[in-house]
Amino acid sequence: MTRRIPLIAGNWKMNGLKADSVDLARAVAAGAAEGRDLLVCPPAVLIPPVAEALDGSGVALGAQDCHFESGGAHTGDIAAAMLADAGCSHVILGHSERRADHGEGDDLVRAKTGAAHAAGLVAIVCVGETLQERDAGQTLERISAQLGGSLPEAVTSGNTVIAYEPVWAIGTGRTPTLEDVAEVHAHIRGRIAAKFGAGAGDGMRILYGGSMKPSNAAALLAIDGVDGGLIGGASLVAEDFLAIAASCP
Ligand code: 13P
Repeated sequence: MTRRIPLIAGNWKMNGLKADSVDLARAVAAGAAEGRDLLVCPPAVLIPPVAEALDGSGVALGAQDCHFESGGAHTGDIAAAMLADAGCSHVILGHSERRADHGEGDDLVRAKTGAAHAAGLVAIVCVGETLQERDAGQTLERISAQLGGSLPEAVTSGNTVIAYEPVWAIGTGRTPTLEDVAEVHAHIRGRIAAKFGAGAGDGMRILYGGSMKPSNAAALLAIDGVDGGLIGGASLVAEDFLAIAASCP
């Protein structure tokens, strides 16, 4: 079995101004440790100063979205190659907030994921059910549909990370049971293996996201098949983010 190095990723969402963000990035960089990969994903405009703050630290830099085209007349959008050029190695795609705020569907997420790969970026593709879907017993079906629609043919365990983020757990302080997280992660790994081969299934990092914090991180990160976290609110406080990273088994 492949040893999957845990990835602890901070999604800063639409938070922070330059001075505080540079301080946060420096504090994260100072706490980087062996045995786990750290990634921070600031708002697009803060990518250059954060890149400078992280320089030489080993902490990776990511963006929160990209366009599906490589360039051209798309006012306000950012191409994947521009992100790579600015120092990003990763991009979060298909986050439920983009799916909700911008009407992004699986087809668009798939096109963006292809664009990210073409630019040499690792795509962190987010999937997750709503509370209504969970209550209706449709969680695994929903996840299967999102994976089926959002991942292009060229997915490998090297160019893609999956983040399981139950929509109802994001920013709410609520998390699924450990058994539920284990079930969904095993389901995702099975789908990846079925579509992209056993090697991809074995090697793919699958993160949990949704109200992960220092007090629950150890239990979530210890679940078999959970290879790290995608952290929102707690990634805005260096101490909390690093405490989560330190909880990796
Ligand atoms: P919270 O950690 O704030 O719940 O956000 C999770 C998330 O959406 C990360 O992408």
